[in-house]
Amino acid sequence: MKSLVLWSSRTGNTKAVAQAIYDALPGDKDIIEEGREKDVSGYDIIFVGFWGFRRGADMAARRTLSGLHNRKVAIYATAGTYPDSPAARDYLEAAAALLPKDSTCLGTFICQGRVHSFHVGKRSEHKAEVHPMTPERLKRLQEAEKHPNEEDFKNAAAWALDMVEKAGR
Ligand SMILES: Cc1cc2nc3c(=O)[nH]c(=O)nc-3n(C[C@H](O)[C@H](O)[C@H](O)COP(=O)(O)O)c2cc1C
Repeated sequence: MKSLVLWSSRTGNTKAVAQAIYDALPGDKDIIEEGREKDVSGYDIIFVGFWGFRRGADMAARRTLSGLHNRKVAIYATAGTYPDSPAARDYLEAAAALLPKDSTCLGTFICQGRVHSFHVGKRSEHKAEVHPMTPERLKRLQEAEKHPNEEDFKNAAAWALDMVEKAGR
């Protein structure tokens, strides 16, 4: 089994989850940042990681997913939203839907990731009138501050092994 872990990360959260996945994987494996030159043809499973960006995957991950032909793919992510929220499910479903029809999504994983202060109220599109700081949002951001944590890394590692097992079936 040969595995490739691709990651895209602006502030380090998804990169850290990618590393936890990579460390857990058995056999031949590589880890590469999305957007870099890569030949994906020799891999039995490809993990594609994204960070939540404007209610979906970041642009580098979107490009990667759209171009992955005839591959078994496992999709993981970090985002500010709760992992069990409808939003999280939508992000993952939208990401999987980007895969070409000849590829298979084996499964998905998402955990929260600390939202950098430059995204919390500083950008014009996130000014108070558009994205108000409600008690719910504050609570979500405060919880996100604690992630990804050791438990997220453990869960991501266990999920990755499950994906490898599925890829081998
Ligand atoms: C410009 C920007 C847009 C974001 N948009 C969303 C979003 O739409 N939904 C969400 O849940 N989180 C959003 N986030 C939060 C990030 O997805 C989250 O902090 C993630 O863990 C960052 O991952 P990274 O450290 O790997 O870059 C956004 C963050 C930034 C900087």
